[in-house]
Amino acid sequence: MSTPAARAAWLRGEITRHNDAYFVHDAPLIPDADYDALVRELRELEARHPELGKESSVTHTVGAPSSTVFREVIHGRPMLSLDNVFSADELREWSERVAKGLERDPATLVFAVEPKIDGLALSITYTNGVMIQAATRGDGRVGEDVTDNVRTIANVPAILRGGASGTFEVRGEVFLAKEDFEELNQRQREFHEREFANPRNAAAGSLRQKDSSISAQRPLSFLAYQLVDLEGTFSFASHAATLEQMSEWGFFVAPEIVVVTGADAMIARSEWFELHRHDLHYQIDGVVIKIDDLAQRDELGSTSRAPRWATARKFPPEERTTRLLAIEVSIGRTGRATPYAVLEPVVVAGSTVSLATLHNEDQVALKDVRPGDLVIVRKAGDVIPEVVSAVPEKGRRRHRAWAFPSTCPDCGGPLQRVSDESDTYCVNPACPAQLLQQIIHFASRPALDIEGLGEQRVAQLMQEGLVADVADLFSLRVEDLASLEGLGELSATSLVNAIQGAKAMPLSRVLVGLGIRHVGPVAARALASTFRSYERVARAPLEELEAVDGVGPVIAQSVYQYCREDETRERMARLAAAGMALGEPEPAPTLEATLEGRAVVMTGSIEGYSRDEAEAAIVARGGTSPGSVSKKTYCVVVGEAPGAAKVTKARDLGVPMIPPTEFERLLATGTWTVTLA
Ligand code: IVH
Repeated sequence: MSTPAARAAWLRGEITRHNDAYFVHDAPLIPDADYDALVRELRELEARHPELGKESSVTHTVGAPSSTVFREVIHGRPMLSLDNVFSADELREWSERVAKGLERDPATLVFAVEPKIDGLALSITYTNGVMIQAATRGDGRVGEDVTDNVRTIANVPAILRGGASGTFEVRGEVFLAKEDFEELNQRQREFHEREFANPRNAAAGSLRQKDSSISAQRPLSFLAYQLVDLEGTFSFASHAATLEQMSEWGFFVAPEIVVVTGADAMIARSEWFELHRHDLHYQIDGVVIKIDDLAQRDELGSTSRAPRWATARKFPPEERTTRLLAIEVSIGRTGRATPYAVLEPVVVAGSTVSLATLHNEDQVALKDVRPGDLVIVRKAGDVIPEVVSAVPEKGRRRHRAWAFPSTCPDCGGPLQRVSDESDTYCVNPACPAQLLQQIIHFASRPALDIEGLGEQRVAQLMQEGLVADVADLFSLRVEDLASLEGLGELSATSLVNAIQGAKAMPLSRVLVGLGIRHVGPVAARALASTFRSYERVARAPLEELEAVDGVGPVIAQSVYQYCREDETRERMARLAAAGMALGEPEPAPTLEATLEGRAVVMTGSIEGYSRDEAEAAIVARGGTSPGSVSKKTYCVVVGEAPGAAKVTKARDLGVPMIPPTEFERLLATGTWTVTLA
């Protein structure tokens, strides 16, 4: 056991080192949650041992000193950080402390509950409605002048709509929307550049570019959450009023912000955010709770590090560290050999992860992860587990760098790297691993969607020698299957029926199912709706394929070649002989699934829609419209003459309520801009 002093010294050293990595180099060495744990431990230690002299401790400063690349900016008011809580109980305790400080009943306090955007804090100075400067937080007192780069952010107004007088700062977060982040990383991969660990690092790296033309190419956004009135120009009484003003000036303000009364409603609303964190189009790592009344804020004041009138509730981490046990290679349906990490099992975002993709040879080299390393694991886009980076461990000898195998782990054939791509392929067309994956893909949901034909069943059918190619599926008979392990007469019959039913599937789904290199659902739909039959696709000259909207030269070349291969001709002839339609019916109008998996409750009437029409519109966009409000409800549309029970329930559960004027926007985009109080 080390002494408290030694432990504190070690913690301070670690925190300083991580501050430097995070704030100066935009390259964190550990997940946020692990960093929070270090700060927490130090703070508790300092509270228990005042003799440790916390006045000069890192727990008292924010961030890290600025680097020397950018001009220094002294903030008009310090840019403080926020204290964190990690549970509903701690949130309640915080609200009780605040209520005590104000000598008020916690049930009467008014709170703003906001998403905690995972980006990087920015302060923009305006004089008489014109942007004059933008600065990062730096150490809270002195930041970096990033004005030129901020001028390239599309949603930062250079001139405020409606004008304004005096000098003030608009503070908020620079971030990358999830979609923009995915696209940026895709581009990084294509150009063989290192991927960004998360949207925040991507935003930070992009904003702190010396060359603002590089920032300009990065899809940065800004979200405003604080108005700093430097000269006493304004007379706003509440935070909500400042948000409204910033929105009128043209800033993006989080539409999910709700102002609620009482600790119960505030906690309920923060739980709503936790439940729906993945529904938002930007990454959030928690919620921020703020006292709405500006006079009460003054009364409460701040410590040197953070205001007493606000706190952040951090959600459980989405990134975890674990041990990388081995790197292996799997063979996909196109023969692509994908390296993946075998991990000591770890729970990430609610499920156990023991395997994670490493994408390709270059990514393994760039990340420099090696068997035996401690690694950070996260879920990319909240779904696919991914190894982010290795965590340096002092004094530990690492395994030597991993080398891509030269032969296929399944068929033993040669693995070849395509010269101008990052990918490596098994080039043996008879490789059983490839055929297995092809059949699985053919039967999968985006393709022919054959129920009961999953990975294990396909593997079994191949092992039994019943299928070796997708075309073999259609000659399977009930008597071939009924005797197989796990399949009786009944399930064998349904499987055969499901397979036979797939013969009528439209060409677009068949084209997806064939697994032609580079052909995804978008290109498949474009080809199918242009040519209408497989025969016409197969006969089309290269120029005609290229001319299809949504099909570039790479896809066209791939399709052209695929259709002319001997194996393809044979396979397609067999599919046609089995009775597959291989044609595309005239399209029915389709709508975008903006409300996929979301429950939208309606109450009261909405102009232009009957109750049934409104529900049908929600269902047509992938949503559901249950008759009552629960914790799972995404939002409640409150129309004319709403039901009191639903409104009260929504308020109690912290479910956002939106006015009927937002219904069209909700249908079109899945989100809204105005939330009812
Ligand atoms: S208010 C004095 N509101 O979280 C209060 N901060 O961990 C200043 N953040 O430095 C912050 N979303 O960079 C506030 N809705 C929000 C926020 C938010 C994200 C960031 C901000 C802050 C950090 C503290």
